[in-house]
Amino acid sequence: MSDILERLRTETRDAHEAIERDLAWETRVTTPDGYRALLARFWGFHAALEPALAAVLHDDAFLDPRRRLAHLAADLRFLGLDDAAIAALPRPHLALPRDRDEAFGALYVLEGSTLGGQVIAKQIGRQLGLNPEGGCRYYAAHGRETGAMWKAFRQRLAEEAARGRPETIVAAATDTFDAMRHWLCAAPVPIPDGEGGPVVKVSQRG
Ligand code: HEM
Repeated sequence: MSDILERLRTETRDAHEAIERDLAWETRVTTPDGYRALLARFWGFHAALEPALAAVLHDDAFLDPRRRLAHLAADLRFLGLDDAAIAALPRPHLALPRDRDEAFGALYVLEGSTLGGQVIAKQIGRQLGLNPEGGCRYYAAHGRETGAMWKAFRQRLAEEAARGRPETIVAAATDTFDAMRHWLCAAPVPIPDGEGGPVVKVSQRG
C-alpha cells in the first residue's frame, strides 16, 4: 500500500467510524421517503463539490466517470422530484478545494464512499426493490467496476502525493469527512418544492 493511502486510512479512521455510526443509513433506507431525503442531502453535497473539483483538476477524463451528481438527479427523478425541485434542493456552503492536493483529499472521500456503497445498494435493492436503472444509480456507483476504479484512483493518488503535499491531502480528506457528516446527519430538512433552498455553512478551513 502506498504511504499516502496508509496515512489516509489511519488518519481518517475515526472520521469514517463517526459517519458510519451517525449516518443511520439502515434506518433511513427502510422507507422511500427516508431514502429520498438522504439522496437529497447527497445531491446538495455533490452539487457544491463537483464543480470545484472540475475547476481545480482540469482533468475531465479522470473526473467525469467519478462524478455522481447526475446519478443523484436520476434517482431523485425516479422517486418523484421534477428538475425544478431538484435544482432547488439545499446545498452546503463548503470549504471548497483550492488546489490539487485539497481536491484529491476530497475525492478520496467521495471515491471511498463507493466501496461501502455497494453494501448499501444491495440493502436498498432488498428493502425498496430499486436497482441501478431505477432509483439506485448513485449507490450502485461503479458497480462491477468498483474494484478497478478504486485501484486506478489509488494509483493516481500515490502519484499526486509524490509531487504534492501529503499533509494537505490528509487534512482535506478529514475536513471533507467531517463536512459530509455534519451535512448528512443534520436534523432532517423537508424537501423544498420550489424557491432556492437555504445554503448552510457546515465547515470552514483556515
Ligand atoms: C457517506 C459515508 C461514507 C463515506 C464518505 C465513506 C468513505 C470511505 C472511504 C474513504 C473508504 C476508503 C478507505 C481506504 O482508504 O481504504 C471507505 C471504505 C469502506 N467503507 Fe466507507 N464511507 C462511508 C460510509 C460507509 C458505510 C455506511 C459503510 C457500511 C456499510 C461503509 C463501509 C465501508 C467498507 C466496507 C469499506 C472498504 C474497506 C476496505 O475494503 O478496506 N462506509 N469508505
